[in-house]
Amino acid sequence: MANSYDLDFTYTTIDKIFRLSMGESGDYSGAKYDGDFSMPLEKAQKAKHKFIADSLNIKKGSKVLDMACGWAPFTKYITQERGATSIGLTLSSGQAKACQKNGMNVIVKDCRYLTPEDFGTFDAITCIGGLEHFCSVEEWKDGKQERVYRNFFKTLSDLLPVGGRYYMQTMTFSKNMLDHKDIDINAERGSASHVLALMMKEFPGSWLPDSPEMVINCATPHFKLISQSSGRLDYIETIKQWRKKFRKFNFKKYLLYLSLLPKYLTNKEFRHQVAVFKISPNKVCFEQEIMDHYRLVFEKIQ
Ligand SMILES: C[S@@+](CC[C@H](N)C(=O)[O-])C[C@H]1O[C@@H](n2cnc3c(N)ncnc32)[C@H](O)[C@@H]1O
Repeated sequence: MANSYDLDFTYTTIDKIFRLSMGESGDYSGAKYDGDFSMPLEKAQKAKHKFIADSLNIKKGSKVLDMACGWAPFTKYITQERGATSIGLTLSSGQAKACQKNGMNVIVKDCRYLTPEDFGTFDAITCIGGLEHFCSVEEWKDGKQERVYRNFFKTLSDLLPVGGRYYMQTMTFSKNMLDHKDIDINAERGSASHVLALMMKEFPGSWLPDSPEMVINCATPHFKLISQSSGRLDYIETIKQWRKKFRKFNFKKYLLYLSLLPKYLTNKEFRHQVAVFKISPNKVCFEQEIMDHYRLVFEKIQ
């Protein structure tokens, strides 16, 4: 799995730049456009929040666990607009600090090992864009990926009553995924081999499920599937909007970009890591159907 060092690298490094671009509680996961790509990103993110809260029957007084909460956009929505109570968990210290400064109940804690002894049980749980980080390449190579997901669903099951609902969205690999040995940072720029290698540098410690079925099978002993939909096209639009916002001029933000220049010039590994500012590996992977993206709603059965 990606550990707190990996996740600090991915999320704390960009903390200030992200908040200056997307707002203090911006979403860092695919939005929900429902086919209307003329919608502003903020509205599409709000549509996602509403869909999730409705799917999980979140209302005034509901106690909700927001796993892998990022800068806590969903925590903010359900506490401020639905009157729910919420705890958000992240492994990025920068995110947690920013959320706490903004009055959000967020702590640094590994959600995969939460037990009812920590904060009791919950009426509903979300994990929006977190599962991507739960299995490392090494665990996948060792044949442990399904075990990682099965253990995670057991954790969820212990935290929910029968009838309690869980929402997740996750990237998955798709029909055009390459053989692992063909992933190569020196391959032709923009090729599948190259963009997959860039993704692995941007998200160290992270390997995706093969398909939604893999996740659903791992949930089966404890959960039934309520709904499933692909958010691949929505994610492509989300990334387009993010890229515009990351580029939009802001004095403080451009100073931060500038402060990274010496490292950029002297550190080859860092140049690979920030190549994502020139090319979006995720977007190319979605466009070429190397990757897909799924929204899954589950209900605990036993
Ligand atoms: C792509 S962001 C999604 C953030 C947020 N859910 C959103 O939609 O904006 C992934 C988040 O997963 C968190 N994360 C990854 N693995 C985790 C773990 N084992 N425990 C808690 N948080 C984790 C990261 O710290 C980061 O906040």
